[in-house]
Amino acid sequence: SLLSAKQIVLFGAAGDLSKRKLFAALYQLFVADLLVDEVKIIGVARVAFEDADFQAFVKENLNTFVADQIAADKVDEFIKLFSYVQLDFSDQAGFKSLAKVLDANVYTLHYLATPPSIYGLIADGLKAHKLNNDFARVVMEKPIGHDLESSKVINDLVSRHFKESQIYRIDHYLGKETVLNLISLRFANSLFSTNWDHTCIDHVQITVAESVGIEGRWGFYDDTGQIRDMVQNHLLQILSLLAMEPPTDLSSENIRDEKLKVIKALRKIDRSNVHEKTVRGQYTKGHMNGQPVPGYLEEDGAVTDSTTESFVAIKAEIDNWRWAGVPFYMRTGKRMPCKHSEVVIHFKHQPHNIFDNSYSQLPANKLTIRLQPDEGVELTVMNKVPGITKELEIKETKLDLSFSDINDSSRVIDAYERLILSAINGNAGLFIRRDEVEASWEWIDSIKAAWDSSNEAPKGYAAGSWGPVSSIALIARDDRDWDE
Ligand code: BG6
Repeated sequence: SLLSAKQIVLFGAAGDLSKRKLFAALYQLFVADLLVDEVKIIGVARVAFEDADFQAFVKENLNTFVADQIAADKVDEFIKLFSYVQLDFSDQAGFKSLAKVLDANVYTLHYLATPPSIYGLIADGLKAHKLNNDFARVVMEKPIGHDLESSKVINDLVSRHFKESQIYRIDHYLGKETVLNLISLRFANSLFSTNWDHTCIDHVQITVAESVGIEGRWGFYDDTGQIRDMVQNHLLQILSLLAMEPPTDLSSENIRDEKLKVIKALRKIDRSNVHEKTVRGQYTKGHMNGQPVPGYLEEDGAVTDSTTESFVAIKAEIDNWRWAGVPFYMRTGKRMPCKHSEVVIHFKHQPHNIFDNSYSQLPANKLTIRLQPDEGVELTVMNKVPGITKELEIKETKLDLSFSDINDSSRVIDAYERLILSAINGNAGLFIRRDEVEASWEWIDSIKAAWDSSNEAPKGYAAGSWGPVSSIALIARDDRDWDE
């Protein structure tokens, strides 16, 4: 094994992701003593910086974005790990200066936090200086393309010089504590593993609600939309972890093989069924926490006739033995009432109600997995109402486990800390394999094509609401409701 990365090269070191997430994540790993001693972190970008300026830049951003989590003396030690190489990616000659400061014979992580359009150029530059040898890994940020074709182009360019086993594609949801916990919950508890199929489960709901709008990224977001920005990656990853077969062990390839099978088994949605299986929405002006906020088409920089969706609801079906007849309803949107992500497993109803009460059918058990915030797991059970009553009365009660109660540290670990650590240790399991990316795009492309050909505008929903009315209709057609 390669043990631990001794050099970390941050391409795009002056960009937003580095400033907001990567410096902070590396800092936390440093404080936790998880980086090797004397690791070198080399920032690479187009702007001019002396090493000292760059160190000051790192410090300044830590102060801006995670001030409450850092200690001044530690930061001063930490920034000493950093140096800087100025490089214009379109100028292959620039890679020479990078090669000069790197030792090609130690495990090196090249973190590509640049626009994906230049991943290919970076791979070429590294190859030209033999920096693509077995000691090298590349971490690639999303988006890997905007459809199957464009994702293949990017992947092909990078794979000319790097083997698949050297490429780590990020989906930051796989670094989230609660998303990973889906694996433990399912496979370490017989209570759940034996009930996890169509015989016991009625349907599943996945909600990833965001309160933010498009946060000044109109240009990027409008070309992308919620289905490509969130469903193709994050929601399909959650779905595949929920639905996959037990892998024989936790090795990277086995987990990824099982996830891939789920994505491949997703029933195709195309023009013939897109109306009944999907809803797309776009927020109009409304209120968030009592404050008025603009609609999508009134955001800064907006093109007023855009039909890009900021909300999607999908009824997904998995055509395999385990999940026959069990719909997975997914919804995600911007400008929803609050930031709230959860998975709810709705178990089947009891076949018959023996209790003397007004229920025509007893409420079914529900397992709610709160992904964020207020991370936890909650099981709804029917319980006897305590005390003496004339009849045996029952009511719905919750067994509620909040992760903050069982976690000694109050700090919420950021997904990037776990992912960078995995990459540093050469563990690919939390990264997305090329075939997963491609299978996901294939499923999404078909939906997108069906939307495009129907020429229908997305349905409006007021900012601060749970999406368009048709989203309620989508699930109500099956006599079900979204969880509140
Ligand atoms: C990103 C999307 O991948 O995930 C953003 O590009 C979105 O649009 C973000 O806001 C949500 O991540 P999180 O961790 O806040 O749920």
